[in-house]
Amino acid sequence: MDQSKNSWELNSEWWQNSFTNGANAEYSQQLLPLVVELMSGFQKVLEIGTGEGQIIRALKEVSINSVGIDQSANQIRHGKKSDPSSVLVRSLAEQLPFRNSFFDAAIACLVVEHVELFEESFREVSRVVKSGGRFVVAMNHPLLQSPGSSWVEDWTTDPPEKYWRIGSYLREERSEEYFGDGVSIPFTHRPLSRYLNALSESGFVTTRLIEPEPFGIYEEELKWKNEIAFIPRLLIIVCEKSSGTD
Ligand SMILES: C[S@@+](CC[C@H](N)C(=O)[O-])C[C@H]1O[C@@H](n2cnc3c(N)ncnc32)[C@H](O)[C@@H]1O
Repeated sequence: MDQSKNSWELNSEWWQNSFTNGANAEYSQQLLPLVVELMSGFQKVLEIGTGEGQIIRALKEVSINSVGIDQSANQIRHGKKSDPSSVLVRSLAEQLPFRNSFFDAAIACLVVEHVELFEESFREVSRVVKSGGRFVVAMNHPLLQSPGSSWVEDWTTDPPEKYWRIGSYLREERSEEYFGDGVSIPFTHRPLSRYLNALSESGFVTTRLIEPEPFGIYEEELKWKNEIAFIPRLLIIVCEKSSGTD
């Protein structure tokens, strides 16, 4: 089995305990409200890589009907427990079990970095979303959070300087992100152009980029490296399916 797929099965409980149902403030206070805002006005919404469905539950609270798909049986099972009325389907993002133009909009939240054949999944989303429909892709910022990016302290200056080093941005690579307690999840870093070009080739026009301020910065961190407040962790691409491409 693909290691990435296996990791999500093995670590589904870790994901739920650490990131869902209010466990993660960045999600509950920043990402979920933003997704709800970006999806408002759309009726039938698809989420690819829905995990245990926290986004589709948030959309349901504002009366947006949505369907979530995920390749992990454990994530789907947990999602069904959290809300038995959620529509969650086990499926790959690269092969969606829906008819053409079925949805008004779609979202992929912190997923594309984990999908090997991500271009295939964009083509599939384009197939199932109506012309004029919206596709929102939220990801770890591919430029500012590329592997190897980190704070550097330069003690050769007085006072010492602290700056954010950008890792090997152009090198596309698959690596493991270690979260502690034996949990590691493979992801692929790709330059931003790969995503924007693939969206364009799938018939999407980018209408807006959102780089939210990093969430949950502590006073202590600000004293030490105040630039931290100006380096986004997330990038959100908002695009629209070109008309005449149904
Ligand atoms: C970081 S979680 C995000 C869950 C959800 N989008 C959220 O924001 O709460 C990523 C999810 O993507 C799913 N996933 C990864 N590759 C996939 C693929 N090729 N097809 C469908 N789901 C996939 C994983 O099983 C996992 O549940």
